[in-house]
Amino acid sequence: MLTTKSIGPEPRFGYREPILAQYEPGCFVNAVGLTNPGAQRSAQLMATLNIPEDRFLLISIFGGSVEEYVEVARIMAPHGNGLELNLSCPHAKGYGMAMGQDPLLVKEIVEAVKAAVDIPIVAKLTPNVPNIGEIAAAAEAGGADAICAINTMGPESYVSQGHAVLSNGKGGVSGKGVLPTALKCVSEIAAVVACPIIACGGISSAGNVREFQKAGATIIGIGSALVGMTTCEIAAYFKVLSKDLASAKDNAESLVRYDIDMEFNAVTLVNNESISDDISILTFDRKINVQAGEFIFLWVPGLGEKPFSVLTDNPFSLVIINLGIFTDSLIHLEPGAEAFVRGPYGIAVFPPENAKVMAVAGGTGLAAVYQLARDFGNTEIFMGARSEDRLYFEKECREVGILHVATNDGNCGYHGLVTELLKNRLKEMSDEELGNLVFYNCGPEPMVQAAEAVQKQFCSAHKIYNAIDYLTKCGVGICGACGAPDGRRLCVDGPFLQVAED
Ligand SMILES: Cc1cc2nc3c(=O)[nH]c(=O)nc-3n(C[C@H](O)[C@H](O)[C@H](O)COP(=O)(O)OP(=O)(O)OC[C@H]3O[C@@H](n4cnc5c(N)ncnc54)[C@H](O)[C@@H]3O)c2cc1C
Ligand SMILES: Cc1cc2nc3c(=O)[nH]c(=O)nc-3n(C[C@H](O)[C@H](O)[C@H](O)COP(=O)(O)O)c2cc1C
Ligand code: FES
Repeated sequence: MLTTKSIGPEPRFGYREPILAQYEPGCFVNAVGLTNPGAQRSAQLMATLNIPEDRFLLISIFGGSVEEYVEVARIMAPHGNGLELNLSCPHAKGYGMAMGQDPLLVKEIVEAVKAAVDIPIVAKLTPNVPNIGEIAAAAEAGGADAICAINTMGPESYVSQGHAVLSNGKGGVSGKGVLPTALKCVSEIAAVVACPIIACGGISSAGNVREFQKAGATIIGIGSALVGMTTCEIAAYFKVLSKDLASAKDNAESLVRYDIDMEFNAVTLVNNESISDDISILTFDRKINVQAGEFIFLWVPGLGEKPFSVLTDNPFSLVIINLGIFTDSLIHLEPGAEAFVRGPYGIAVFPPENAKVMAVAGGTGLAAVYQLARDFGNTEIFMGARSEDRLYFEKECREVGILHVATNDGNCGYHGLVTELLKNRLKEMSDEELGNLVFYNCGPEPMVQAAEAVQKQFCSAHKIYNAIDYLTKCGVGICGACGAPDGRRLCVDGPFLQVAED
């Protein structure tokens, strides 16, 4: 069974980053803010999914009134096998928990949704009440087919380096720290309802699953324990967990990433070099440990947090393009300003030995590409820019590889698109040379797609790796912001994602 993130009546941007913090290994606070594209768009997207026959898709929905729950339920019901009513989000004002604390209202919402759709309805409850049993009984009386407990606890704040980390100030608590409460809630609910109970809250091992089954749970939900896992690692984790449950073993927890580091380290800006109106190179006062392909998050309390590739590691520097709220503040940051770094995240890149690297960069994509050329050599860098004044780091690139430059206005290098320049270069190569290439494309999505299209004319797709700047919020695989069209998450499966064969 898979439960979606909660979907509401209208698109919601959610809170700005930081949205997730880890206060101890395996223990988290989050304030995502019910980010979702709205019911209509979600329905369109889900209509394209192929859910295997043997899987159950539970669509989580929320609303700010009984009518809104019904409206969203009607739109989403045709696309799932069941609906879960989120009556329990602790950090989005007016939604979720505000409604889930009143047994009469819970009964009314469940009844109204039951009457509107003909698929199973699950009521997901908050632990932040003194009477979860009474609320579960009210949901069952309203017709709920199952109860899910628990949603996150709190809200609580988490302070790092003297500042509250979450942009919302407070967030819901999940992971190992909430397990005892979840267990108590499940026992209380099991004492008063006959319907199945879906248990979640800090579950990560077969031992935990057995405890919850003993307490009365029929179905087990796992969320925070998946932090930091790649898509393949999640599949492997569930295989081991199933084996554990079938054989009285307890091996799955060894796969949980308690080593994921979300702590912040202080850095001070020493130089802000303006390249053009909207591009700056920020140099900080220390070295950072990062490998080619990995990225970090930079946090300036009060301003925000975003992911960046590292241009140089010693001293630590970033190249920033002004694209929005946070990057606008960064390019105006004065030397002496304090910021905080967490990471590195993502999978480091290792080109096959003896392969020739063809790296295509646009905008700030050069940061990732420069590291690659510097660390592995045997690289040709293709650097594209609108105009000469937007080029940077050319001398440094020439020191580590062969640099090909293209500008749209022709004032520097090839006159035209970098992908045309790439095609011309590939045409010159022999079959033997082409067979030895591996491609890394990093930059704006249209450039990356155009580069891929050219490369596929000469080489097989599996030799192409693309890094596209999908919106990336938590960096550890749990918020779902950075999903590529095929479902891989940039932050844990990438940022360089191998292109699939057609
Ligand atoms: C792995 C990686 C490496 C990166 N490396 C660099 C780098 O080296 N240099 C660099 O300058 N940038 C880099 N970026 C991109 C950088 O993180 C973005 O430029 C930054 O996110 C823009 O932040 P902002 O606050 O300035 O913009 P925002 O104000 O967040 O807006 C930027 C754009 O995103 C949209 N947007 C914002 N939030 C949402 C949302 N919740 N849902 C949908 N759309 C939204 C806005 O409408 C706008 O179009 C990298 C990104 C990734 C993922
Ligand atoms: C980043 C994050 C986002 C979440 N988003 C939702 C959500 O959209 N809807 C919901 O009902 N619960 C949401 N939850 C709560 C989880 O579904 C789950 O109830 C809770 O985290 C406890 O389980 P866990 O400790 O296994 O994570 C979210 C939790 C996290 C950590
Ligand atoms: S940014 Fe949260 S899942 Fe990737």
